[in-house]
Amino acid sequence: MRTKCIHLFPLLRLLFFCNIAQAQPSTIGYNCTAANQTSNSCQTYVFYRPTPPDYLDLASIGDLFSVSRLMISNPSNISSPSSPLLPDQPLFIPIKCSCTAVNSSITISYAALNYTIKSGDTFYRVSTLNFQNLTTYQSVEVVNPTFEPTRLDVGDVIVFPIFCKCPDPSQLRNQVNYLISYVFQPSDNITDVASRFGSTEAGITAVNGDRIQPFDTVFVPVSRLPNLTQPVVPPAAPETTTDRKGAVIGLGVGLGVCGVLLILVCGAWWYREGLMKGRGRDGEKQQQVKMGNGMMKGEQVNLMADVSDCLDKYRVFGMEELRGATDGFDEKWIIQGSVYKGCINGEWYAIKKMKWNAYEELKILQKVNHGNLVRLEGFCIDPEEANCYLVYEYVENGSLSSWLHEARPEKLSWKTRLRIAIDVANGLQYIHEHTRPKVVHKDIKSSNILLDSNMRAKIANFGLARSGCNAITMHIVGTQGYIAPEYLADGVVSTKMDVFSFGVVLLELVSGREAIDERGNVLWASADRVLVDGKQLTKLREWMDESLLKESCTMESVSSVVSVALACLNKDPARRPSMVEIVYALSKSDDFFFDVSEDGFSPRQVVAR
Ligand SMILES: *[C@@H]1O[C@H](CO)[C@@H](O)[C@H](O)[C@H]1NC(C)=O
Ligand SMILES: *[C@@H]1O[C@H](CO)[C@@H](O)[C@H](O)[C@H]1NC(C)=O
Ligand SMILES: *[C@@H]1O[C@H](CO)[C@@H](O)[C@H](O)[C@H]1NC(C)=O
Ligand SMILES: *[C@@H]1O[C@H](CO)[C@@H](O)[C@H](O)[C@H]1NC(C)=O
Ligand SMILES: *[C@@H]1O[C@H](CO)[C@@H](O)[C@H](O)[C@H]1NC(C)=O
Ligand SMILES: *[C@@H]1O[C@H](CO)[C@@H](O)[C@H](O)[C@H]1NC(C)=O
Ligand SMILES: *[C@@H]1O[C@H](CO)[C@@H](O)[C@H](O)[C@H]1NC(C)=O
Ligand SMILES: *[C@@H]1O[C@H](CO)[C@@H](O)[C@H](O)[C@H]1NC(C)=O
Repeated sequence: MRTKCIHLFPLLRLLFFCNIAQAQPSTIGYNCTAANQTSNSCQTYVFYRPTPPDYLDLASIGDLFSVSRLMISNPSNISSPSSPLLPDQPLFIPIKCSCTAVNSSITISYAALNYTIKSGDTFYRVSTLNFQNLTTYQSVEVVNPTFEPTRLDVGDVIVFPIFCKCPDPSQLRNQVNYLISYVFQPSDNITDVASRFGSTEAGITAVNGDRIQPFDTVFVPVSRLPNLTQPVVPPAAPETTTDRKGAVIGLGVGLGVCGVLLILVCGAWWYREGLMKGRGRDGEKQQQVKMGNGMMKGEQVNLMADVSDCLDKYRVFGMEELRGATDGFDEKWIIQGSVYKGCINGEWYAIKKMKWNAYEELKILQKVNHGNLVRLEGFCIDPEEANCYLVYEYVENGSLSSWLHEARPEKLSWKTRLRIAIDVANGLQYIHEHTRPKVVHKDIKSSNILLDSNMRAKIANFGLARSGCNAITMHIVGTQGYIAPEYLADGVVSTKMDVFSFGVVLLELVSGREAIDERGNVLWASADRVLVDGKQLTKLREWMDESLLKESCTMESVSSVVSVALACLNKDPARRPSMVEIVYALSKSDDFFFDVSEDGFSPRQVVAR
């Protein structure tokens, strides 16, 4: 099999090049027409058709082209960027086109898009499926000379050259302002394409020649972007389709990721076991798993080295240990969701059962180490069920949310609340400022803040966290009532979305109210109305948690925390403070407090009592 392929390959290539000699466009790319090569760059558009299964929503298409959803929905005449798309619905996607010299003799015109290789990808597959023939594998090879096309690793970042052209001065004089990249379909004819884009047949052949073949990229000259008429999407049904699709994609990607982790860990584990026990049934299984994922010998060795680092740092728990600790994952040990409490060798742990997405969390937790973040102690892989278990330190006093919103005899004092706010701010400051790349938690909420025996706060649940900032996300995740508006609208991920959610937590601490009430009203919206500047003390008193009014806590301290919260909740992410500024401001509110309460001789406290 293998040898046959190797022999066939040059032959196929030769065939391609022969064809090219006759056909007008080159497989490598399109010559730059301007004499001034590098300066010739422009903003242009490609025509793209959504295709199942992966590219049926603007977020995933936006991810592919490194643009936001709005950057596609606006030129494409789509009014609701978050709704799903129908297959073949027409889209215009903006790209930045420029001339790049690939070597001393060839300069081609393309938009460089980074694409991270996933399992099963080849240059050909990604060019023809994901990018729908807007580039060719030959061109990808030319642009990425350092990558061997037959030896791609998952995670390699490849530049895909999307074919495009910028109008030259004479075209500009003739009102040709854009040359839209369009992949000619077998069912198309030039007349039809010209009329759809408001161009002319003569214009198209002048730019592309008259030997246009199906799946060639053609450049359609237009003076302005044509209006697209979108099909009417049935309103109710799509909701469920996205959800299901999201879940399926998530599952697919996740299983892939978990698969990698499984192989990593199991590989290392079996390797160790194998050394001790000799080759047994497990050895065979290991071999199968690896073959299935097409790994090569050299890589295995490297991975083994990576994992042994990981194994040294974390304890690897056995499935039996975890089953024993939780009575076979009995419901009575559930703390919350799929997190169980369990005792192993006299120590309590929180054990989180995950179906697939442990890898991201493990990757991030491995980088972070701070007293205000819940510590990961170890993990366990169950290859039979394809489950991953993350084992954390057990944090005794449960979640902040349960302290604030559940009926409890004791209420948190203002001093404790302020401490909690400062602890969480410190934890966030750490992940935002002291990790490279920065980590964004993405799901800050009172139920993800845990309190230890001294009522000090720790941030938990890095399951949604991502490293890397200003990325544009694929699927909106997070919790209603805490999600920053810009993320909801456009999927923009930045540290400022954590700042927003933190602002909501501050409001919860002050008001004792939930982030979203039973009628679906969000707390931050009501706070906006009630507390315009945090200085209207009467209004503030009415809004505050009653239990705080009984305390002698100073209104200065409370109102300065409210001012911080309102700053965090600014609709414009750029105007929200950074965590560094927030830590500073909260520490000052703390000073207010200590002025009167910590110091028992404070005259004001005497007056208050
Ligand atoms: C592109 O440039 C190369 C080298 O300069 C030249 O041989 C080739 O004919 C050009 N192709 C087109 C389509 O202009
Ligand atoms: C190339 O650009 C330079 C300045 O960027 C300009 O002076 C020169 O005339 C240009 N040449 C051509 C052929 O357009
Ligand atoms: C430039 O790249 C093309 C395609 O890879 C190759 O055929 C050509 O020989 C290269 N030219 C030089 C001068 O390296
Ligand atoms: C692609 O990756 C390179 C190198 O990491 C980076 O400089 C460039 O900005 C990236 N391009 C896009 C469009 O993200
Ligand atoms: C891309 O072109 C190939 C033939 O070169 C064709 O089989 C494939 O269906 C095309 N892909 C798309 C998405 O049109
Ligand atoms: C193709 O073009 C001819 C005219 O050249 C036109 O009559 C016909 O309707 C077109 N076919 C399609 C499918 O658009
Ligand atoms: C697109 O629609 C706008 C507003 O409806 C109209 O002014 C414009 O002329 C249209 N453009 C084209 C190319 O049809
Ligand atoms: C946008 O699409 C709708 C159909 O979805 C169409 O009625 C409307 O004319 C389009 N707008 C423009 C400016 O073409």
